Amino acid sequence: MSANSRKILVTNALPYANGPIHIGHMLGYIQADIWVRFQKLRGHECHYVCADDAHGTPIMLKAQQLGIAPEQMIADMQQAHQADFADFQVAFDNYHSTHSDENRACAELIYKRLRSAGHIKTTTIEQLYDPERNMFLPDRFVKGDCPKCGATDQYGDNCDVCGATYSPIELNNPRSAVSGATPELRESEHYFFDLPAFEQMLKAWTRSGSLQDEMANKLNEWFEAGLQQWDISRDAPYFGFEIPDAPGKYFYVWLDAPIGYMGSFKNYCERTGAADFDSFWQPDSQAELYHFIGKDIIYFHSLFWPAMLNGANFRQPTNVWAHGFITVNGTKMSKSKGTFIMARTYLNHLDPDYLRYYFAAKLSSRIDDLDLNLTDFAQRVNADLVGKVVNIASRCASFISKKFDGKLAAELNDTSLLHEFQAAGDGITQAFEQREFGRAMRDIMALADKANAYIADKEPWQAIKDPARAAEVHEVCSIGINLFRILMVYLTPVVPQLSARVQEFLQDQFVWDSYKTLLRDHPVSPFKALLQRVEMTQVDAMIEDSKASTTASTDATAAALGSDNSELIADPISAEIVYDDFAKIDLRVVRIANAEHVEGAEKLLKLTLDLGGETRQVFAGIKSAYQPEQLIGQLTVMVANLAPRKMRFGVSEGMVLAAGPGGSELYILNPQDGAKPGMRVK
Ligand code: MSP
Ligand code: ZN
Repeated sequence: MSANSRKILVTNALPYANGPIHIGHMLGYIQADIWVRFQKLRGHECHYVCADDAHGTPIMLKAQQLGIAPEQMIADMQQAHQADFADFQVAFDNYHSTHSDENRACAELIYKRLRSAGHIKTTTIEQLYDPERNMFLPDRFVKGDCPKCGATDQYGDNCDVCGATYSPIELNNPRSAVSGATPELRESEHYFFDLPAFEQMLKAWTRSGSLQDEMANKLNEWFEAGLQQWDISRDAPYFGFEIPDAPGKYFYVWLDAPIGYMGSFKNYCERTGAADFDSFWQPDSQAELYHFIGKDIIYFHSLFWPAMLNGANFRQPTNVWAHGFITVNGTKMSKSKGTFIMARTYLNHLDPDYLRYYFAAKLSSRIDDLDLNLTDFAQRVNADLVGKVVNIASRCASFISKKFDGKLAAELNDTSLLHEFQAAGDGITQAFEQREFGRAMRDIMALADKANAYIADKEPWQAIKDPARAAEVHEVCSIGINLFRILMVYLTPVVPQLSARVQEFLQDQFVWDSYKTLLRDHPVSPFKALLQRVEMTQVDAMIEDSKASTTASTDATAAALGSDNSELIADPISAEIVYDDFAKIDLRVVRIANAEHVEGAEKLLKLTLDLGGETRQVFAGIKSAYQPEQLIGQLTVMVANLAPRKMRFGVSEGMVLAAGPGGSELYILNPQDGAKPGMRVK
């Protein structure tokens, strides 16, 4: 390893041990895997670790539901997860579980250090309790009628119908989603981690790395809103680690989950001796530490985790890299549409390299959602990988094996295109380093177009008919194979199985710098088809299979059992919406029939809106920009189908639209002449 070799530890968010891996999960694991493979190919010391996230109420209840011990369930699930990852060529150096000795040791150590530094406090809180099952209920396990709009069968944290967020104590007719019993309010002592004490440290950490813009903005919002004490304990019965010196109290799953990165790495170091644990985690560590995560769990990784590490005298992450969410065919993955595709179902029908390439082609370093459009997927893979890249080899290889003894030419004179391909290496290297995989793929495919144009121009299939031009054909095809080889070096982190077949064909072993060399006078193996086209029939069969197979793993409580992330701040970065979402919004032209001040309200004006027959009362936060009398008689635009919201001053029956930074610079929208109250906005 060279002197400027880097030491890097990479993790991806740990999947919950209560359900199978689906195609949405795969995005993060593949993104990180591509980056890790790239670093390893370059000769850097890079370790990629992960684990199953095995603790928490959903996992405990799921095991009970299945009638097996949680230990059994998480062991089975871990095996299935590992098989899925392995078959997708996600090459973890270690895969462990948060329910492990190493993780317990790390969690206790961190907790004790935080406690002795004075960062742990206890407070008695009130929480809903299931008297039949003798357990406290997490928010998602209480259901009832929405306190705002009255909708029935809503979860304890927010209403699917009106979007209101509330505490489960506010629900009307509450019942336990576990037993159906009416919950009681009971007191319990909880342990809290003093997050606010780390505000300065977190702000400094935020500034020290090159955080993604969206991440930095989100953090600033949280700083402005003020950091809160974090409840890190749960009462028995709970599946997790008991808190030292606190019988019957367990670490909340999100405390020991990120510590699972450490636990897995510790297990790896002890098991293989491949790395030195301390040199990666000491406060003065020179190693780099990166966490790849989805956008829904930024809060845990950018606030709690660095603060816990700091408070326990460990190093902070070099960076936390969030990615967006996968949608399929433009909408949220859906069981009935067959687009809730399990990793295993995909693997039963399609080559993992296809999906790896498609994700790479659409990934950037930003937190944008990514749509897996299945028609586009098939077309893109066929056009790029099969039609452009592999095509170069299939046009040249047969001449080499049939006419030139399976050996590339000893001399390559016409090197300008080869040099152009090599010169592109710097930019492609940079793109991979910066996680701009989409840019790298575009650069590579632009080169592939040039290689194909070169071969089309030289027409070796014509030239070969003239024995006097044999040497020329030999050179053209050898250049073609070398161009192909350079592209495949660049694509190796993305499509490892295709690359392995290519290396076998070329009798070569790639490292990243292989693109800087050329193969001359070099034997190649007989050419075999390297990659099949994606057929839509395979895609359709996968969809049919998904419709059939998802019913087994889902049931009425699946939404609650599926994720524990909603228990805390569910504040993801605003997502792209699809047309269907937009179409739900009823926008109308309205005339402001009346506007008046509201006694005691700092920001609000009370508007009476005329929708062309119907009138609505709306409280609008535009007082800083308008006097009531300026507004009367004006046309504007409202959201007419927003569920009514009860506010301190009365019920607001919709919303008017305004634009601007705020304060006096806030402008209500003014439709042009000809627009009439009641008209729909399209
Ligand atoms: N167990 C927690 C993470 C603990 S990390 C210390 C968790 N598990 S999860 O199974 O719900 O999600 C695992 C990863 O998959 C997360 O990074 C999550 O954001 C990601 N995704 C889950 N669904 C996804 C999509 N539909 N699209 C992209 N990523 C998705 O969260
Ligand atoms: Zn509601």
